Amino acid sequence: MTAASQQITKSSKAKRKAKGEFEPRIVAFCCNWCSYAGADLAGTSRMQMPPNARIIRVNCTGRINVSFILDALHQGADGVLISGCHPGDCHYTSGNLKMQGRFTLLRHLVKEAGLHPDRVHLQWASAAEGDVFTQGITAMVERIKKIGPNKVKER
Ligand code: FES
Repeated sequence: MTAASQQITKSSKAKRKAKGEFEPRIVAFCCNWCSYAGADLAGTSRMQMPPNARIIRVNCTGRINVSFILDALHQGADGVLISGCHPGDCHYTSGNLKMQGRFTLLRHLVKEAGLHPDRVHLQWASAAEGDVFTQGITAMVERIKKIGPNKVKER
């Protein structure tokens, strides 16, 4: 994201905050080989997206332990997005499929923890899909705004 577009998104964020609107904090785990590059492409292409996400680069979504996500939620993240290579394109062959398998368990654990399961989301975005990445972030922010703030922050 360029300095100019960051300035624009920061000033609109400041205006929304001044109005007292809920601004979700999203943690986005992105695989280095596809989604992180897609996020980079979105930035260099000046695609607009909400500035609510903090990206954590991982080598593969298969490296993401369920505890990482639960820990992010426990520390007050309003939502966690996991973004990786499309099935069949994983740099490590099947890491994304392993994550996909874990994701069902993850949603169950999030629900058991008393949180809305839609606070976590899994998407596939290639290095050439900056638009898919921005749409994923935008949709995640909208979804979390509907769900509301993570109650853990209030405890
Ligand atoms: Fe991207 Fe495995 S390398 S999901």
